[in-house]
Amino acid sequence: MKHHALAIDGPAGAGKSTVAKLVAKKLNYTYIDTGAMYRATTLKALRSGIDIEDPEAFGFLDSTKMEFKKGILFLDGEDITMPIRSNEVSNNVSVVASHIPVRNKLVALQQQIAESSNVVMDGRDIGTVVLPDADLKIFMTASVEERARRRHEENLSLGIPSSYDKLKSEIERRDKIDSSRSYNPLRQAEDAIYLDTSDHDINAVADMIYNMFTVVTTKRSKDNGKQNGQ
Ligand code: DC
Repeated sequence: MKHHALAIDGPAGAGKSTVAKLVAKKLNYTYIDTGAMYRATTLKALRSGIDIEDPEAFGFLDSTKMEFKKGILFLDGEDITMPIRSNEVSNNVSVVASHIPVRNKLVALQQQIAESSNVVMDGRDIGTVVLPDADLKIFMTASVEERARRRHEENLSLGIPSSYDKLKSEIERRDKIDSSRSYNPLRQAEDAIYLDTSDHDINAVADMIYNMFTVVTTKRSKDNGKQNGQ
């Protein structure tokens, strides 16, 4: 791997994206929200009216452009930050993300991005499938109640109508689909560090991960230098 990578995996609402954004900023790395890519695929599928249950109906991905600019995902040139957070997309994304052709396509794209830049990538299968050689892997989680509370606040701050109880049951439903799908399910990589963020301030968690990452990458650079006789 020519570039450095930090992989952050975990269930919805564990604080991954907030932490990933903070750490990416501190490291001056590119932040890649892979969940946004599955959401963008779902949005395009819903807009075009294809049968989202059909794994073979996603051929449109071959001619779809997904690009991150300053952490914002553009779908065929459109900033889709708001529409990918709609309830319609949230309620259909797990099905779309369970399709093998969709996963293969998006994983390849994610690997390509990591080949060309230093990244902080968050998702469900980054440490296990997308970037098995990442410098550091974190598996972040929090209680269902805390995760629903965080998503609720996030929605409100974005001006999206939100109900805590509904979010909680949706999160439980999505956790179940994401962890029980047969292909690339949500699971902790053997060499990932497990972090329960329920009782921790997100800024403190970000600082801790940043420090760990710096230690690991500095050590790796030194080891590589020794191997090369430097
Ligand atoms: O993190 P999020 O809620 O935006 O993710 C949206 C959906 O995409 C979620 O149901 C899990 C799925 N996903 C996935 O299967 N693999 C990833 N690497 C990222 C997200």
